[in-house]
Amino acid sequence: MEQKILMEQTIKDLRERADNAIKNSATLKELDEVRVKFLGKKGELTGLLRGMNQLSAEERPQVGKLVNEARAEIETLIAEKNSELKAAALQAKLASEKIDVTLPGRRVHNGHLHPLTLTLNRVKEIFVSMGYTVEEGPEVETDYYNFEALNLPKDHPARDMQDSFYITEEILLRTQTSPVQARTMERHEPNTPIRMIAPGRVYRRDDYDASHSPMFTQVEGLVIDKGISFADLKGTLEDFSKKIFGEKTKIRLRPSFFPFTEPSAEVDVSCVMCHGEGCKVCQGTGWLEILGAGMVHPDVLKMSGYDPAQVSGFAFGLGIERIAMLSYGLDDMRLLYDNDVRFLKQF
Ligand code: FA5
Ligand code: MG
Repeated sequence: MEQKILMEQTIKDLRERADNAIKNSATLKELDEVRVKFLGKKGELTGLLRGMNQLSAEERPQVGKLVNEARAEIETLIAEKNSELKAAALQAKLASEKIDVTLPGRRVHNGHLHPLTLTLNRVKEIFVSMGYTVEEGPEVETDYYNFEALNLPKDHPARDMQDSFYITEEILLRTQTSPVQARTMERHEPNTPIRMIAPGRVYRRDDYDASHSPMFTQVEGLVIDKGISFADLKGTLEDFSKKIFGEKTKIRLRPSFFPFTEPSAEVDVSCVMCHGEGCKVCQGTGWLEILGAGMVHPDVLKMSGYDPAQVSGFAFGLGIERIAMLSYGLDDMRLLYDNDVRFLKQF
């Protein structure tokens, strides 16, 4: 009898403590600790059942009923608190992940082509529209194609102007795109017409300064057919210059020397900045050099299997950095290679 009263009191006390502990649980983890403390296998309620053997046969079901009621009530309270805490956690999560749709969007920066590539593409477009093909040659070139096939035998003094980086005695980084002339002629049946350009990188032992780079870009041009004359060369270059620098552009041909052309010329365009009046960019002369050109030397035709008695041709070599500088009004070639984003952004 005494034992029964004691147990009833203990159950009542346990329900109160469980009730408080559940109410005071602030997190799901705390709530689970409460569940283990009261309802777990080694929990207080299970512990109570051990005292049952001291009760009489009639008392046992009565106390058992109380224990079951207590268990059911605690379970219900825990379930309620559980959904309450879960709902609160969800609310907190939603609040912290709220998106402010009124914030301004982040700008996506598009990349774009380098000014040299843009210039090269324009030059290509102009010549392709005149019916030229685009040819390629290797940047690592043999002495034969870079010099000998262009009428520059070993020890020719004109080699001095184009010293380069040699891999072996016979292999070097090409100093000009002119070797593609011989390579293209060799790919053709002898005396068949050619109208090609050959763009690409070239290398020279030049000092890096405002108008020179040890690596730069050229576009070679070669036209061969029956009856090609110097007038065709001049007309072509005039047409090209007007297309790239504008209709008002004039050209001027100065006699020059290249071992692979005869006669040879260096070609100037009227200054793009001052239109011929004389300014800082053209050093007061009103003219700017952009390329070398001439009529293909008969010996060069012969070496590549063409017959100078049947066909003639002209060739030219443009410096693309120079053309980019004139097109964009740059006063230093090194800007094109510094990769300064503040500069590159402007194109
Ligand atoms: C030649 O390279 C000849 N192969 C051009 C040629 C082709 C003549 C076909 C006749 C027939 P030149 O060394 O002058 O020529 O160079 C041609 C152009 O390349 C120059 O007008 C200049 O615009 C550019 N150039 C030359 N050296 C450099 C350099 N170090 N950096 C940047 N551009 C250069
Ligand atoms: Mg020159």
